[in-house]
Amino acid sequence: MQVGIFNDESKIGEIGAEIIAPVFIDKPTGVLGLATGSSPLPLYDALVKKVEAGTLSFAQAQAFCLDEYVGLSMEHPEAYRNFIRRVFTARTDFPDSAVHAPAGASDDPYAAAAEYDAQIKAAGGVDVQILGIGSDGHIGFNEPSGSLSSRTHVDFLTEQTRQDNARFFDGNLADVPTACITQGLGTIMEAGKLVLIATGAGKAEAVAQMVEGPVSARWPATVVQFHNDITVLLDEGAASKL
Ligand code: GLP
Repeated sequence: MQVGIFNDESKIGEIGAEIIAPVFIDKPTGVLGLATGSSPLPLYDALVKKVEAGTLSFAQAQAFCLDEYVGLSMEHPEAYRNFIRRVFTARTDFPDSAVHAPAGASDDPYAAAAEYDAQIKAAGGVDVQILGIGSDGHIGFNEPSGSLSSRTHVDFLTEQTRQDNARFFDGNLADVPTACITQGLGTIMEAGKLVLIATGAGKAEAVAQMVEGPVSARWPATVVQFHNDITVLLDEGAASKL
């Protein structure tokens, strides 16, 4: 595991983009795994800059979101399929049809989860997966006490995660969905390369567990210790308990 600590979020974004861009320069048809949340936004900005400068193209690439809420309509602005288009893919040359998210509005989310896992496999797997981390140690939406080798599945959000995400729903906890479809930890671990970004002191405990703690389903992100190509980019707050 490579861990970098920076005092500036835009630097984190630039370093992340320097890791990701060469993968798509070597393999223009590559598959990029996308995370929502606020931590990767500076990275998305840095990738957009490269596309605008003509030094990077996603025109032949594919993208798969990590997760999606269950129960939000496909038109809801906070549905992750819409969030990711707004903050990243629509600002690049990614074809819209090449940007995938689990079908959280499906009548049968369990079947939709299995289908999504198969779709990722059919695309040849994820070449680079961008990750954030929840304050309770989740990655994607793999909440504590789940299987460390799970495939894409329906999961239920902890109270902590719903409170953390209420800011995206005008602070109304009642509007935050209770369920989601998430790539499983086993699915995420199959990506060729992981780039995980965490910022702010609220992530410090989860980051310390992930980097230095024992691998345990209590802190799902600890499973990344088994990945042989992971870069963790932190600001000083997120690194403060290392
Ligand atoms: C969300 C997402 C995760 C994200 C995490 C952290 O709930 N499902 O993919 O990494 O929580 O979000 P943020 O970066 O906004 O702190």
